[in-house]
Amino acid sequence: MSVLLLLLLHGQGAQSIWFPWYFHRYGLEPHSARHGGRGGSGGKTPCPPGYELRSSKGPSGGGTGGKAKGPSSLCDDNPLVMQLARLYLVSPERIVLLLAQPLMLETCAEINDVLEHIESATSSCVLTDDNIYGKLRDGLSYYKTEVCDGGGEDGSNRKRCTDLNEAHNCIKELRTDMIECEAPADWYEWHNATKVCQNFNDVLDCYYTRTAMLCGLDAAKQLRSFAGDSMGRALVHKCVVNKRLPRVSDPMPNLSAASWLKSSLVPIVVVVVVPLQLAVYLLLV
Ligand SMILES: *[C@@H]1O[C@H](CO)[C@@H](O)[C@H](O)[C@H]1NC(C)=O
Ligand SMILES: *[C@@H]1O[C@H](CO)[C@@H](O)[C@H](O)[C@H]1NC(C)=O
Repeated sequence: MSVLLLLLLHGQGAQSIWFPWYFHRYGLEPHSARHGGRGGSGGKTPCPPGYELRSSKGPSGGGTGGKAKGPSSLCDDNPLVMQLARLYLVSPERIVLLLAQPLMLETCAEINDVLEHIESATSSCVLTDDNIYGKLRDGLSYYKTEVCDGGGEDGSNRKRCTDLNEAHNCIKELRTDMIECEAPADWYEWHNATKVCQNFNDVLDCYYTRTAMLCGLDAAKQLRSFAGDSMGRALVHKCVVNKRLPRVSDPMPNLSAASWLKSSLVPIVVVVVVPLQLAVYLLLV
């Protein structure tokens, strides 16, 4: 974590660098370079470097949006970036990756703290609907409700929450697989909704396949369901989750195997063990 902070602080001077540790590790271009490199010009821009508002409605306009906050100012992104960086939250996939953290309770405590800090940093300003950091915050908040806090107030996803927690010992072994499932670095910012949603579903299917192979089909279904809901909240485009599941043969056969064993055990006992005992008994007598 101290390395991350160091890199972050180092990166703040050069405004164009977005989550430097990530690019440092994966060798990707800085965020702004991928968007035409108009990063550190004004310093007063409401958007992250290289990022543009969808429409050109100014900070004081606000008429068309749902927000009736009047002339409130747009939030500074930096506090959000710093908070999200504590959890390495650089993309929608990284919300799901939190499931693979070694200690769930500790992760949840950290998430709580991050969300509280973001809350206080954004209480008196406005985040636009297409602010990616705001979206990641929404996804993280969903994680808190659905994984840390038992599955929603109405308990509608309580079973999914329980299953995910029970499968955690296995899911935490999936860390590398889950990282391999991730889509290209900035896919969630693309303008073409078709392509965004294609990537979204590819990631979900990959999660499903990898989880099924290691942790079984039930865990895979729950993880895919959670990933779809949480990542969906972190996307600007609304995507529909494909109904069709990838075909994976279950490597952990369900109870039918066990019940086969049980039902075949009785005849074995009758046919083999009983005569054997009888023979021994007769021999002794
Ligand atoms: C979006 O991408 C799809 C698939 O590559 C393509 O067929 C479509 O024309 C694109 N739409 C726009 C608006 O560019
Ligand atoms: C076990 O798996 C088979 C298919 O492999 C399925 O038909 C059956 O319903 C499953 N049983 C249980 C108890 O899940």
